Amino acid sequence: MAQTPGITILGICGSLRQASHNRAALGAAIKLAPPGVTIEMADISAIPPYNEDVRAKGFPSAVESLRRQIAAADALLFATPEYNFSMAGVLKNAIDWASRPPDQPFAGKPVAMMGASVGMLGTARAQYHLRQVCVYLDMHPINKPEVLIAAAHTKFDAEGNLTDTPTRDFIAGLIAALRDWALRLKA
Ligand SMILES: Cc1cc2nc3c(=O)[nH]c(=O)nc-3n(C[C@H](O)[C@H](O)[C@H](O)COP(=O)(O)O)c2cc1C
Repeated sequence: MAQTPGITILGICGSLRQASHNRAALGAAIKLAPPGVTIEMADISAIPPYNEDVRAKGFPSAVESLRRQIAAADALLFATPEYNFSMAGVLKNAIDWASRPPDQPFAGKPVAMMGASVGMLGTARAQYHLRQVCVYLDMHPINKPEVLIAAAHTKFDAEGNLTDTPTRDFIAGLIAALRDWALRLKA
């Protein structure tokens, strides 16, 4: 039987805290990924606040490695909390840094997104802002399934394992859709 080719996905989390629900959702995605799909995690914690004067002297090393990881990945998977109806500032800051010329690495990338919040809309508003940013940077976000993890504190156990079956199914569906989308764009 012919096997589906594999891809590498870079996971980028918009929360820096250790017990983050969004980090846990990416952890679940790693476990739920189909055979051949590898998800690596970016570390954006050392990226400084964007400053054009700093950039003029060269990208900080944390930005260089993020840009390299983005360029090397077949696809990106964002997981962001919703902060004041938008994506987390640290995620926007990391995207802003990585997007600066030359060779902005987001162009043409297949992208999926998900988000976990303790609120009832599960980052819907944050994800719409993130979609806007994807459009400007010429990424190709997939539309469905939407993974909006509302009331996140009820869906993970104390160790950060995703215990909610419908959410597990949505995340598995998202990764499979991203793989198919990435392979379609590559073909
Ligand atoms: C500054 C700030 C703003 C927030 N704004 C929202 C919001 O607009 N909508 C929402 O659903 N939750 C909001 N929250 C709650 C977050 O959804 C919640 O803290 C979430 O668990 C953070 O994600 P994490 O667990 O991955 O760190 C806010 C939290 C903070 C710290």
